[in-house]
Amino acid sequence: MVLGVLGSGSGSNMQAILDAIDAGTLDARIALVLSDNPDAFILERARKRGIETGVIDCRGFKTKFPEEAQLETADRLRAAGVELVCLAGFLRLVKRPLLDAFPDRILNIHPALLPAFPGLESWKQALDAGASESGCTVHFVDEGMDTGPIILQESVPVLPGDTAETLHARIQVVEHRLYPAAVAKVQQSL
Ligand code: GAR
Repeated sequence: MVLGVLGSGSGSNMQAILDAIDAGTLDARIALVLSDNPDAFILERARKRGIETGVIDCRGFKTKFPEEAQLETADRLRAAGVELVCLAGFLRLVKRPLLDAFPDRILNIHPALLPAFPGLESWKQALDAGASESGCTVHFVDEGMDTGPIILQESVPVLPGDTAETLHARIQVVEHRLYPAAVAKVQQSL
């Protein structure tokens, strides 16, 4: 299974996928890593592994993923032979035409038990809401915000004294196990 990864930040979830591949628990290869942020550490992690990387030119838009940029992204992913696209901390909403280029083949990891707390900084949302648990979810991407069919999810407790950082760190430990398992599950279903 040839994977493409899109990310905006640290890339620890991409690293978890690479680690699962190395451990032989996921039969896949990451062919291309793209980021909308030229300084994102995810690109550094990929380069260190000799994985092809690229920067998505979002035409100066801070949060939008312009149509031209989505078309370019689809072209690059296709050219790299990508069969399944993994969003790993990618902070822009994917819409058509990228969805049309990879129908039912784009996955996202979200740091909450969807449908609770969609959108950004979900761990903060969970704390602000006084929730006793949160979690993480891997789902197929559709046209909504964090609304597509769920592949795997797991709850994580919110503990007394948690800060945004401690809760996010506890969620990430689970994310790193859940994302490779979800990719393997999708692969088996194809
Ligand atoms: C992860 O916790 C991921 O769930 C979250 O960003 C973090 C990226 O970490 N994604 C979202 O909030 C998407 N709405 P990483 O770059 O270390 O994988």
